[in-house]
Amino acid sequence: MAQNAAQLHVPVMVGEVLECLQPKPDGVYVDGTLGLGGHGLAILEKSAPSGGLVGFEWDREAAAYAADRLTGFKERVRIIRASYADLLQELEEIGVEGVDGLLVDLGVSSLQFDRGERGFSFQVDAPLDMRMNQDLKVTAADIVARSNEGELADILYHYGEERQARRIARFICEARVVEPVQTTFQLANLVKKAVPRRFHPDRIHVATRTFQALRIAVNRELDNLVRLLEDGPEALNPGGRFCVITFHSLEDRIVKQAFRKDSRLKLLTKKPVEPGADEIAVNPRARSARLRGAIKI
Ligand SMILES: C[S@@+](CC[C@H](N)C(=O)[O-])C[C@H]1O[C@@H](n2cnc3c(N)ncnc32)[C@H](O)[C@@H]1O
Repeated sequence: MAQNAAQLHVPVMVGEVLECLQPKPDGVYVDGTLGLGGHGLAILEKSAPSGGLVGFEWDREAAAYAADRLTGFKERVRIIRASYADLLQELEEIGVEGVDGLLVDLGVSSLQFDRGERGFSFQVDAPLDMRMNQDLKVTAADIVARSNEGELADILYHYGEERQARRIARFICEARVVEPVQTTFQLANLVKKAVPRRFHPDRIHVATRTFQALRIAVNRELDNLVRLLEDGPEALNPGGRFCVITFHSLEDRIVKQAFRKDSRLKLLTKKPVEPGADEIAVNPRARSARLRGAIKI
């Protein structure tokens, strides 16, 4: 299973993350988005023989993969199936008073996205689900069914930065009276029909922003990120490092502003670090990754 995990999700900017986090043998590190454990593994190797890792992962399947993959590190690893937004409370529960580094690699893992059946991708027909944490109650189909036209337009506009939000929302609301929108293909086709050809973006699928917006809404991604940015510095020991990888401008802006205005932090990166061309060539998912770092004063 461990080898499958490594093939399923290639971690982005591992060298840059280690440079930012600087793991040491006497340190304790949090990976807030453990995923399949790629970055976690690198942190454990770099902080050998005694550095500790607390991994947060709220996807049941991913947490099980990571546990299996990191099993050889024994008591150096602790995996918590909870949201990184509950960082302070969860660390307190396991008796960790301060950490030396905190990493989050936001976005969807390949396990969630590429397999299709979880409903994140418009490339595979599947139920319109998009919950990263299988215990969340509301799916993307629920949001599409229950939001009124204005609410839906706001979600698409604010979370997807979709300029055609009003048009798409109107189209969805008209269509769902005839037939409930329950699958990824239904939604992708509705968006395609709603947006006039001349407004289709050049480089991305016309439904990309709609899918991004619904995913953010289902998983309350921005709320979680804001909580982490508030609580993260409190969890860090002086000199501890806070590293965040984002995958779209909305998140990057939130991280940039939070790091800049937080008097507990000093910036490690004035501009976001981007992946090199070599990495993008072998892992296209890395293309939009941006890394920002800060250090606790
Ligand atoms: C891009 S992947 C991380 C991949 C990981 N760095 C690796 O190397 O395998 C993001 C992961 O974060 C998880 N995640 C997203 N939001 C979370 C949250 N609020 N709390 C805990 N895990 C979260 C997702 O379920 C997903 O598995």
